[in-house]
Order: sequence, then structure tokens, then C-alpha cells
Amino acid sequence: MEARKKRIFSGIQPSGDLTLGSYMGAIRNWVALQDEYDCLYCIVDMHAITVRQVPADLRRRTLEQLAQYIACGLDPQKNIMFIQSHVPQHAELSWVLGCYTQFGELSRMTQFKDKAQKHADNITAGLFTYPVLMAADILLYQADLVPVGQDQKQHVELCRDIAGRFNGVYSDTFTLPEPYIPKMGARIMSLGNPANKMSKSDPDGCVFMMDEPEVIARKFKRAVTDCDTAVRYDMENKPGVSNLLTIYCAATGKDLAAAEAEFAGRGYGDFKAAVGEAVIEQMRPIREEARRLLGDKAYLEGVYREGAQRAQALAERTLRKVYKKVGFVAR
Ligand code: TYM
Repeated sequence: MEARKKRIFSGIQPSGDLTLGSYMGAIRNWVALQDEYDCLYCIVDMHAITVRQVPADLRRRTLEQLAQYIACGLDPQKNIMFIQSHVPQHAELSWVLGCYTQFGELSRMTQFKDKAQKHADNITAGLFTYPVLMAADILLYQADLVPVGQDQKQHVELCRDIAGRFNGVYSDTFTLPEPYIPKMGARIMSLGNPANKMSKSDPDGCVFMMDEPEVIARKFKRAVTDCDTAVRYDMENKPGVSNLLTIYCAATGKDLAAAEAEFAGRGYGDFKAAVGEAVIEQMRPIREEARRLLGDKAYLEGVYREGAQRAQALAERTLRKVYKKVGFVAR
């Protein structure tokens, strides 16, 4: 019998348009891994409502995100691509796992602390228990690997802890997942303020995958650097330039030394224009293909319907095991 391929699960919230950060930190790796692994790539709309969304926008962005996944090169034949809320087992497992997660553990999550500060007037229980739902996403499919950016590492580690604890109480039930974090691009910083992560909630410092070329060029032109002139990687003293070098390398596949040599003796103006150009060329085919796919709603509907069916079959197997182990009477 052929050994089972290792499995991958990852997802992105449709809480805003997809950014260069999510592309470089996550999606690029998803594409690279799709041949070697059995992959599930999800649009985590249930996570998105942990902060308030405009319903029509959420619906639109969910579909756009699917089109963008495909446009990035993810093949719906090879991968299971689906919308989280279409597979009710995520919410069901999340409830059970929440009963094996400590209040203290969730209180220590840095993303919760950040978001609670940003949305101080709306700190919901959902925002607090968000990492439990994320653990359910991963554990339902017995994923071995979770390709994410640096900021999600803590959540994947918590997921491992929850899984280990459950396995310890009830015997082996869940595969313990490993985070898979890229060497280059794991943490893309804001172009306007390189001390902060590039994020959809800061549109000025953020490049969106669907931005027009002129918009991308303008954002890079305005990127914050420093008052030195050397294009050199030094995250501590030259965070703006270092971030641009990272983006350049992630977009072109060059290594840091080659990029530094290329821009030796050239000014920041030239350098920023070249980084912008590299990103424009990387995003151009993706944006055009996503646009084309968005014109074919029937196709997209077929992809997410089939994805949900295939995902449910896998998810139900795990959920049934879990319900039995904790002592629920079989339905
Ligand atoms: P989200 O939607 O905030 O981000 C999606 C993915 O993009 C990565 N990312 C970045 N990488 C590098 N630089 C950046 N500036 C940057 N911004 C975002 C994130 O690390 C992430 O990989 N909780 C998750 C979604 C999720 C999930 C899951 C992920 C829900 N369930 C199960 C993996 C497995 C989140 O909010 O990601």
C-alpha cells in the first residue's frame, strides 16, 4: 500500500483584501508544497467575524479570495479548497477543544493582546477563543504541516499543546502539527512604518495583491527608509531598507548578498523603484487571472462546493473519533 502523503492545512481570513504579506508569508509556500503534500486551503470566514465585518463585503471578499488562491497557482484538482463555514465540523470540534484549553494560555496570545487593544470597544469571547477554532481547523484534518507567516507561530504551538493534552488524556487522537515558516518573507513589515507588520488594517503601508501597478509603484516610492545611503540588510538599524530587500528577494528569488551587490552605489530612489517593479511583475499575472476567474461565478461555486464535500468527509472521521473518546452517545 502506498504510504499516505503528509498533509497540510492553512487558511487566511477574508477580513480584508489579500496583501503582499500574506502572499510572501503563506500563499507562495502553499503553491510550492501542493505537489508534495495533500493540502487543504481554507478561507476562514468564521475567524473573520471575530471583529465586526460589513456582511456584503465579507461575502464579496470570500469569493475574491478563492479566485486569488487559484490565480496564485493553487490547483483545485490537487488541493481541497473550501470555505470554513461550509464545514460545520470546525465549530463542533472547536467547542470540544475549548474545554481542553486554559484561560491562561489564551490570555498569553500576543495577537489577542494586540487586537484587544485595537478593538477595545468590542473584545468578544470569539476574539479570545479564536486560537481554539484555529486549532480545530488544523486538527480536524490531522495536518502534519501548517505553512504560515511568523505571526501565526504562537497559535500553531498552542494547537500542538492542546492536541498533546487531548492525546494524553484519551490516547492518540490527533497528529501534532509543525509550523512551516519561510526563510525569506516570514514577516513583511509596513512600508510606512517598518516597526509594524504589514497588515490590511494599515492601508497606507500595505500593498494589496489586487492593487494596480501605478498604486504599487507609488507605495514603494513613498516607502520609509533612513538617512543613510547604503542598501544593506540590517534589520535593527535599517529596518525600512532591510524590509525592502526582503521583499525584493522574495519577489525575484535572489539572495540577500546578490541583491545588496546589485544596488551597491545606487541611490534609494533607484532601489525603491526596482523593488516596486519586481512586485508589480510578480503580481501582474495573478491579478489578471483573478479578475478573469471572478467573471466565472459558476466555476468558483463548483470549486468551493466540491471542496466542502471533500473536506467534510475527512473532518467527520476525526470528529466522530473525538465525540466517542470524550463520552458522547453515538448519534
Ligand atoms: P491572517 O489571515 O492574518 O494571515 C494569513 C497568512 O498570512 C501571513 N501573514 C504574513 N506573513 C508575512 N508578513 C506579513 N506581514 C503577514 N501578514 C500575514 C500569516 O502569518 C498567515 O499565514 N489565524 C490565521 C488564519 C487561520 C489559520 C488557520 C492559519 C485560521 N485557521 C489554520 C493556519 C491554519 C490568520 O489570522 O491569518
